[in-house]
Amino acid sequence: MRAHITAVAHYVPPDVFDNNWFASFLDTNDEWIRERTGIVERRFLREGGTSDMIVPAATQVLAQRGLTPADIECIIVCTVTPDQFFPSTAANVQRKLGAVNAWGFDLNAACSGFVYGLWVASKLVESGGAKNVLLCGADKMSSIINFSDRATCVLFGDGAGVVLVEPSPDESLGIQDAIIRMDGEGGKYLYMPAGGSLRPPSHDTVANKEHYVFQDGQTVFKAAVVGMAEVSAEIMEQNNLAPEDIAWLVPHQANLRIIDATARRMGLSKDKVMVNIDRYGNTTAATIPICLSELHQQNKLKPGDNVILASFGAGYTWGSLWLRWSLDHSA
Ligand code: COA
Repeated sequence: MRAHITAVAHYVPPDVFDNNWFASFLDTNDEWIRERTGIVERRFLREGGTSDMIVPAATQVLAQRGLTPADIECIIVCTVTPDQFFPSTAANVQRKLGAVNAWGFDLNAACSGFVYGLWVASKLVESGGAKNVLLCGADKMSSIINFSDRATCVLFGDGAGVVLVEPSPDESLGIQDAIIRMDGEGGKYLYMPAGGSLRPPSHDTVANKEHYVFQDGQTVFKAAVVGMAEVSAEIMEQNNLAPEDIAWLVPHQANLRIIDATARRMGLSKDKVMVNIDRYGNTTAATIPICLSELHQQNKLKPGDNVILASFGAGYTWGSLWLRWSLDHSA
């Protein structure tokens, strides 16, 4: 049995912050941010936590599928910005939706969260371990970025994307294959230095701004270009997929230059690459489901389309997943 995506929706906060907003209090400018990253604007959530962005998207997903919250069996929330350490954000989503029959958990694979999560959700559904999984990729990055560090704060945004994963009646459709990787040696180049059990919060950690994203941008950039491009080419080779077989590459949106390098390595033209980094920045676990939701809304995905998801993030974690789209927007 295969699993497929049967509904998809997203939520982004209404408040837009363009590059010039950062230039009003940091030594940066619109031109640098656009040229080095491809980002023009991003959205930040003023009130509430990550679950507050998931719930409106999840509500749309249920409406699309004609289900009630009680029909959900499992909730997975991929995030690095949970509402709090515990209970899980999945538990908060369960409570807020009234999904009284659901169990669930949070999954932390940073920017690769959604790719990891979709692979896990598909295996749960394929094995009969759950009849459906509400898979959420969401991050409130504004809660963990240092607004005085121009090299990181301009990169991120807030948002949520949600899909429903269910058994596919047609083996040829749905999640087909994935290559998922991790290299903990990369941990020191992109991480939050304090706040966990190793270095609990203290006056010093707060004073030293250690509860924010730390990133060695150039090192991560080089690793991401190689990692995301190689794994995406590998999934094509492993499944005998030629560039002309692919309808869409849906890559993690961290930097337009990383996306371009991946598309080049796969032999794909730009019109087959989903890009919305200009409008949202890097929303971490939310980038890929937001992209899928926008493609679906715009009726750009057709049943049978070969779609490659690709990601790279903290850990390091990275991966590529091949699916055959099954949702018909016009149906
Ligand atoms: N505005 C203006 N100048 C900036 C700036 C900003 N917002 N941020 C950094 N700079 C400066 C740096 O201080 C540096 O100045 P210097 O040469 O005087 O020291 C210069 O720009 C070049 O910095 P560098 O870090 O070499 O730039 P870059 O081309 O590597 O781009 C990133 C920086 C962060 C955009 C890029 O490294 C990147 O995207 N990294 C990977 C992000 C990622 O994929 N993360 C993983 C997934 S979450």
